[in-house]
Amino acid sequence: MLELSEIKADSEVEAIMEMSGKQIMALGYTEHSRRHAGIVSKWSGDILRELGESEERVRLAEIAGYLHDIGNCINRTDHAQSGALLAYKILTRMGMEPRSAAEVMMAIGNHDEQFGSPVSDISSALIIADKADVHKSRVKKSIENVLRANIHDRVNLAAERSYITVDREKRVIALNIEIDTGICSVMDYFEIYFGRMKLCRRAAEFISCKFSLVINGVPLV
Ligand SMILES: [Fe+2]
Ligand SMILES: [Fe+2]
Repeated sequence: MLELSEIKADSEVEAIMEMSGKQIMALGYTEHSRRHAGIVSKWSGDILRELGESEERVRLAEIAGYLHDIGNCINRTDHAQSGALLAYKILTRMGMEPRSAAEVMMAIGNHDEQFGSPVSDISSALIIADKADVHKSRVKKSIENVLRANIHDRVNLAAERSYITVDREKRVIALNIEIDTGICSVMDYFEIYFGRMKLCRRAAEFISCKFSLVINGVPLV
């Protein structure tokens, strides 16, 4: 059985992730490196584990989470679809059976809010985990530039902490974000994240859960 640790140590994966990070930096986007990959991997697995899914589904969710943004090494546009194809090729080359690799491919190909939809439990967990990673450490520009120019970076910069909680009994998945309202208002957050939150709600519904957004301790959705 192919383990996440083997994938992390693979030289092809390492090279592609390094190039993804390089391209994202060159384009001036927020951080999409191994830090983001690691967090999304862990949270994707945590969501399914908390909901009582099998260790096999958890393992595939962790793998999908780790590889979900590797398409950025090709181009930011359509990175979900290009990354899905890359991941399938890498995973089958490393010995994963085609059905499992196809599950990962399908989840990665649907993680982006522009064209993605929740299409499986793994896909749903990946969508929520990916959109939940909002944190000031992801902003790679100077604070002065961010405050002047870019609402997207400003929202990330204001995020002191974000984390997911899963209430298995009530089947509620909550995205909890602590933001510094001196840097960005809750309205700024909604302006940027409205589309993402709608996708998270659909993702939660796909796995028979409700989605809740909690900002500074106040449930908003
Ligand atoms: Fe992405
Ligand atoms: Fe991502």
